[in-house]
Parts: sequence; structure tokens; C-alpha cells
Amino acid sequence: MARRRQIYEGKAKVLFEGPEPGTLVQYFKDDATAFNNKKKGTITGKGVINNRISEYLMNRLGDIGIPTHFIRRLNMREQLIRQVEIIPLEVIVRNVVAGSLAKRFDMEEGTALPRSIIEFCYKSDELNDPLITEEHITAFGWATSQDLDEIMAMSLRINDFLGGLFYGIGLRLIDFKLEFGRVWDDDQMRILLADEISPDSCRLWDVKTNEKMDKDRFRRDLGGVEEAYQEVARRLGIMPESGPRDMPGPDTIQ
Ligand code: TMP
Repeated sequence: MARRRQIYEGKAKVLFEGPEPGTLVQYFKDDATAFNNKKKGTITGKGVINNRISEYLMNRLGDIGIPTHFIRRLNMREQLIRQVEIIPLEVIVRNVVAGSLAKRFDMEEGTALPRSIIEFCYKSDELNDPLITEEHITAFGWATSQDLDEIMAMSLRINDFLGGLFYGIGLRLIDFKLEFGRVWDDDQMRILLADEISPDSCRLWDVKTNEKMDKDRFRRDLGGVEEAYQEVARRLGIMPESGPRDMPGPDTIQ
């Protein structure tokens, strides 16, 4: 069978040429990395679950008017997306002190922040995704001040919406990472939410037990990694009863 042309391979996903111009197929792998590729592993069924979780969350965000790259899920591991020009930023929204913020300021993980914080990192594996400011972003031309205003407004809206959505299923949205991209419709540039939203890119703690239900289980060797991803999907109501089995499903798209 003819393989589609691969456009890009990242650590957790592969992008293939889509069926129509301006589209791509985003394939979710089970590969997991942490600490910029220094730790490598596999989380069985992660690709299947993240494909579903990201589909679900992007659709809900679309429902409230957030423009996203998501078009539709194609099969167990693939979704059709709009091709965007990725803005080389990792936009991190934090509600509670954890991870690199806790380390940077020697603060205790779990301390609620008085207000949500947005941080920017420059997307570069070679440089280890360094933390940057708006000054770097505008001076180096990665985005304009106007783009950043739009990105920050969207990120805070996404935070409010997802925070409520996850709280409703007993999970605290501690922090998460977003990526945005540009598209041109009739010469008009628009910024869309891109990449994925999943337990790979969010910290989610159980409201009652504070148990970590995200990729930190892999990063910190806490065990029960697969189970945590499955539980998030189950609580969202999108986990098939039979589990994250790989169904053969259609391989390509009409
Ligand atoms: P951090 O505390 O390690 O900076 O991570 C903040 C959030 O961003 C956390 O929810 C995990 C997510 N994240 C990614 O999605 N990709 C990354 O490469 C890193 C470092 C963090």
C-alpha cells in the first residue's frame, strides 16, 4: 500500500501529508520522552488515548469559539488537521506551583498561585526550550505584540474552560502547555490552537487524593502510567469499555 509522505516526526507524533492541500494527518505514537529526550520509553496505548482526548478537548474548545487546527479523527491513532505554520513557542499556563516552576523558585509543589501565570518557552530541542519573555518574542520576530495579546487571551480562556471541565470529573488542572499556528484564509492571517492537549501536555491531579494522573508518572517513575491515561479518558467518558486496543480501522482517509 502506498505510504503517505511524512512531513515531520516529533517525539510523540508524526505528521503526514493530508488528503487535500492545507491538511495534514497527525499520527499519535506510544513513544514517551522526558527531559528533552534524555529519558525515553513507551506508554502502551498512549497514542490511542491521546488521539481521543485531544479530539474531545479540541472539539469542546471549538464549541466555545476557540479556533483550532482539528478537523476530525480518522481512526484510532490519526486525526485530520489543518496545516498551520507553527509559532515556535510553548505557551505554558500555570494555576498551581509544580514542575520547573517549583524547581526554579524552590517552592513547594501544590501551592495554589494567586492568579494564573503564563510563561513562554522557545521551541528548540537544541537549546532545551529556554524560558523567554515577550521582549525576545517580538524582537526576534517569532510573533508580534498583537499576536501575543491574542495568544494570551485565548490561553486564559482555554484555562478557564478546561479548568472547569476537568474539575467536573474530579481533576485539578495544575498546568498545561499549548502551541499555536498561523493559517491564511483569503490573505487574512488567523491564529489557531494547534498540536495536542492530553495528559502528555497537562498536569492533572485527582481532586480528592492529589494523585498525579499525567505524564509526571512517567517522568518520575511513579508507575501506573497507562492506568492514569486510561482513567483520564474514562472520566471524560471517551474510553471504550474494551480499553485502548488498537483496532485495525481505516488506514487512510477519503
Ligand atoms: P514544566 O513544569 O516542566 O515547565 O511543565 C509545564 C507544563 O508543560 C506541564 O503541564 C507539562 C508541559 N510540558 C510539555 O507539554 N512539554 C514539555 O516539553 C515540557 C517541558 C512541559
